[in-house]
Amino acid sequence: MDRSAALTYIASVLVVVVVVLLPPPCASDDRFVPGKPLSPGNTVVSDGGGFALGFFSPSNSTPEKMYLGIWYNDIPARTVVWVANQETPVTNSASSAAPTLSLDNSSNLVLSDSDGRVRWTTNITGGGGAASPTAVLLNTGNFVVRSPNGTTLWQSFQHPTDSFLPGMKLGIVYKTRAGERLVSWRGPDDPSPGSFSYGGDPDTFLQAILWNGTRPVMRDGPWTGYTVDSQYQTNTTAIVYLAIVNSDEEIYISFTVSDGAPHTRYVLTYDGKYQLQIWNGSSSAWAVLQEWPTWNCDRYDYCGPYGYCDITAKPDPTCKCLTGFEPASAEEWDSGRFSRGCRRKEAVHCGDRFLAMPGMQSPYKFVLVPNRTLEGCAAECSSNCSCIAYAYANMSSSRGRSKGDMTRCLVWAGELVDAGKTGEEGLGSDTLYLRLAALPLHHPGRRTEINVIKIVLPVLASSVLILLCITIAWLKTKGKERNRERHMNVFLDVTSTAGEGNSVQDFELPFVRFEDISLATHNFSEACKIGQGGFGKVYKGMLGGQEVAVKRLSRDSQQGMREFRNEVILIAKLQHRNLVRLLGCCVEGDEKLLIYEYLPNKSLDAALFDGSRKMLLEWTTRFNIVKGVARGLVYLHQDSRLTIIHRDLKAGNVLLDAEMKPKIADFGMARIFGDDQQDANTRRVVGTYGYMAPEYAMEGIFSTKSDVYSFGVLLLEIVTGTRRSSTSNIMGFPNLIVYSWNLWKKGRTKDLVDSSIMDSCSPDEVLLCIHVALLCVQENPEDRLPMSSVVSILENGSTALPAPSHTAYFAQRITEMDQFSDNNHNSEYTFTLTSIEGR
Ligand SMILES: *[C@@H]1O[C@H](CO)[C@@H](O)[C@H](O)[C@H]1NC(C)=O
Ligand SMILES: *[C@@H]1O[C@H](CO)[C@@H](O)[C@H](O)[C@H]1NC(C)=O
Ligand SMILES: *[C@@H]1O[C@H](CO)[C@@H](O)[C@H](O)[C@H]1NC(C)=O
Ligand SMILES: *[C@@H]1O[C@H](CO)[C@@H](O)[C@H](O)[C@H]1NC(C)=O
Ligand SMILES: *[C@@H]1O[C@H](CO)[C@@H](O)[C@H](O)[C@H]1NC(C)=O
Ligand SMILES: *[C@@H]1O[C@H](CO)[C@@H](O)[C@H](O)[C@H]1NC(C)=O
Ligand SMILES: *[C@@H]1O[C@H](CO)[C@@H](O)[C@H](O)[C@H]1NC(C)=O
Ligand SMILES: *[C@@H]1O[C@H](CO)[C@@H](O)[C@H](O)[C@H]1NC(C)=O
Ligand SMILES: *[C@@H]1O[C@H](CO)[C@@H](O)[C@H](O)[C@H]1NC(C)=O
Repeated sequence: MDRSAALTYIASVLVVVVVVLLPPPCASDDRFVPGKPLSPGNTVVSDGGGFALGFFSPSNSTPEKMYLGIWYNDIPARTVVWVANQETPVTNSASSAAPTLSLDNSSNLVLSDSDGRVRWTTNITGGGGAASPTAVLLNTGNFVVRSPNGTTLWQSFQHPTDSFLPGMKLGIVYKTRAGERLVSWRGPDDPSPGSFSYGGDPDTFLQAILWNGTRPVMRDGPWTGYTVDSQYQTNTTAIVYLAIVNSDEEIYISFTVSDGAPHTRYVLTYDGKYQLQIWNGSSSAWAVLQEWPTWNCDRYDYCGPYGYCDITAKPDPTCKCLTGFEPASAEEWDSGRFSRGCRRKEAVHCGDRFLAMPGMQSPYKFVLVPNRTLEGCAAECSSNCSCIAYAYANMSSSRGRSKGDMTRCLVWAGELVDAGKTGEEGLGSDTLYLRLAALPLHHPGRRTEINVIKIVLPVLASSVLILLCITIAWLKTKGKERNRERHMNVFLDVTSTAGEGNSVQDFELPFVRFEDISLATHNFSEACKIGQGGFGKVYKGMLGGQEVAVKRLSRDSQQGMREFRNEVILIAKLQHRNLVRLLGCCVEGDEKLLIYEYLPNKSLDAALFDGSRKMLLEWTTRFNIVKGVARGLVYLHQDSRLTIIHRDLKAGNVLLDAEMKPKIADFGMARIFGDDQQDANTRRVVGTYGYMAPEYAMEGIFSTKSDVYSFGVLLLEIVTGTRRSSTSNIMGFPNLIVYSWNLWKKGRTKDLVDSSIMDSCSPDEVLLCIHVALLCVQENPEDRLPMSSVVSILENGSTALPAPSHTAYFAQRITEMDQFSDNNHNSEYTFTLTSIEGR
């Protein structure tokens, strides 16, 4: 989104620059200057041919009623996207002079009727007197009046009619509460303003509303702070990105479409439907991709007070009562008349509990309480007996706004109207905290069940927290005692498996003198440093005319010797084209060094997440990297003489050679097994958070399947070009796995694909990779594919893969509606509970 917005911006700046610096030698088709009025029959066509401006007549009236408008110039069906004189048509009859559009010296566009009467004009004041303005129809469909110095004096995009085009803004300026709204036509052939309008809610700023006159017809839920909403995919070349931009001055929605997409617009139809339309070249007609209201129960207040529309109840979204409520009239409700809504089963007493209902579209008529934390918002509501619900969002992750209050605490008093259940994370989806009556006494069984949940959940939650703390402590502490133990174990594993008396010399590994290495790396200068791993620094140097990477184990670490021997013995034995090769070593005094082949293209990490370098990683390259890493892992897991679990597979540990072939690096943490051992328990958890399989991170159990998990995460990163988790959410999801899993479930897998490989990728291969990745990150290690299957699937394709199940323990949200929670319930603690329950 940012990129396309930036491109749009750059494009418009370029247009301005071109206009300023290179006044055209002669007036071209796309511009309009004083003294050359436009009359019916003539058009102004944008440079690029996308749009035309001129007079049109929508119906066969006599005398002909004419409107000045803008329509698509390159499609056969005339589709008007903007009309100037909606309320004041001009007439064109053979007997009198033609109506004209002219640009006057004060920079105003003036539309005059045949008798010279002004029927419509722009209202530019102080437009610059005698200066000669120009009006240009841009290829976006925006008609712009500019002063000679390039300043925009007026633009049609700021005066929308019924169409919302890419690049246009629909929003509200905070200070003035003024903003643009779409207004429907009155009829299919009548451009005069109809009764429907769509735009930001000037009272709250936080939601967009479709009105019929002054009555809401449909409402988007209050904005929750996600910057980009969604991408509607029609075919691989047309993606629509809808963004909400919140700046210091204004809040607006805007959208862009992917390059090369056919014409796309949102339109508010004369009969009150808000549609996303895309031009279908093959059928020569507009296709409606989405339409709102989509369901009957989407309509404002359709389900009555305290009712809500459950659109997750497919295929027939229907009205339901909020928890703790029952239909006001069961009879009417059952016969499909919902307008009387629901009533409380039991009276609410102040101080009662609140129920968290996630995935809700919040009700209308909220009050925004400024500057609250979640806890503060909860306190605000529970301390005021007339408050019956609250919802909270921290919008500080949305960019664009530098200062001001980014919290969003909504409270409700009075009836809850027009709630909905969207079940989705993202735009307009809130956790609604609803004040409840005391627990129903006449359901003893249920009560017990709830009490169990009330007791068990906090216990589980705290044990999860404790486990996490321990894990983190493990990760952070380099407790010498524990390390020594482990390294001793590792060393013993090696010797016992490989035979007694192994020593470095047995592997015919060249020994290099410390002096030579020191010389080669300019005495380990910072300039030669190319990396820093868990056990030391990595330098680049020239040895015997060959570029090498030197890993210098940190001297102060006690584990050095063990780690060193471990790695040397392992790596010297392993030879595979997808593993980094060890060329030599050095042990002198405290110094322990390993010499590896040097790989010029550094780590995958550095290429994949770098804006400019990632462009070089086209799809074929990425797919080859994926297959190479998979082959390397198969070798480690089963084809080498030992079963080796890498335990720290990540993008930073995949190095790329000159031909961008991948090589797995850093075996320092590998454990060795005899063939008969499937898994082992370790007291120290090493690895990188986010790549670690749940059973490993939580319980220290590792197996080849924990590498498979890490591989799955890596695969998702390669396809999406996104880090597994960054400081901010990924499209509103807590991490890459949850995000990918959600899009997969919704059938929007293609939206996962890195935009920089959109053009080069093979959809089948990408889809296969995502499928395989999700099979690799499944929660149950047994369900994950073995690496050998991964390789065979990636190389041969597969027609019958199982559907992935239940991935991602990390931030699983509870979606059940019936979870009780305290009024200071923090949604961040709700993760993991469902999967823990399963254990
Ligand atoms: C606009 O300005 C030009 C010269 O500056 C003048 O000849 C012309 O009459 C003016 N037109 C109007 C409508 O003021
Ligand atoms: C110009 O201003 C007049 C009076 O304020 C208003 O009636 C008219 O709608 C305005 N025209 C435009 C195009 O904004
Ligand atoms: C450009 O011209 C307009 C009037 O035509 C004036 O208001 C504005 O200040 C000028 N801008 C610059 C940057 O010169
Ligand atoms: C819009 O409002 C008018 C008048 O209030 C009403 O007659 C019409 O049925 C409404 N249309 C819709 C689609 O709600
Ligand atoms: C998909 O998009 C391409 C490129 O815009 C277009 O040529 C093709 O007709 C579209 N297919 C359909 C089914 O709309
Ligand atoms: C475009 O039209 C063709 C032919 O009528 C149809 O098969 C295709 O599904 C349409 N595409 C869209 C996106 O509606
Ligand atoms: C928000 O509240 C905090 C303390 O609750 C206060 O220090 C701060 O000044 C408040 N900010 C605004 C903008 O009111
Ligand atoms: C909102 O989130 C940001 C970062 O995610 C955090 O720094 C800030 O303290 C949060 N604000 C509140 C009021 O919770
Ligand atoms: C309680 O909430 C109601 C409705 O929001 C509000 O009018 C009232 O002032 C609040 N009372 C207190 C004590 O905050």
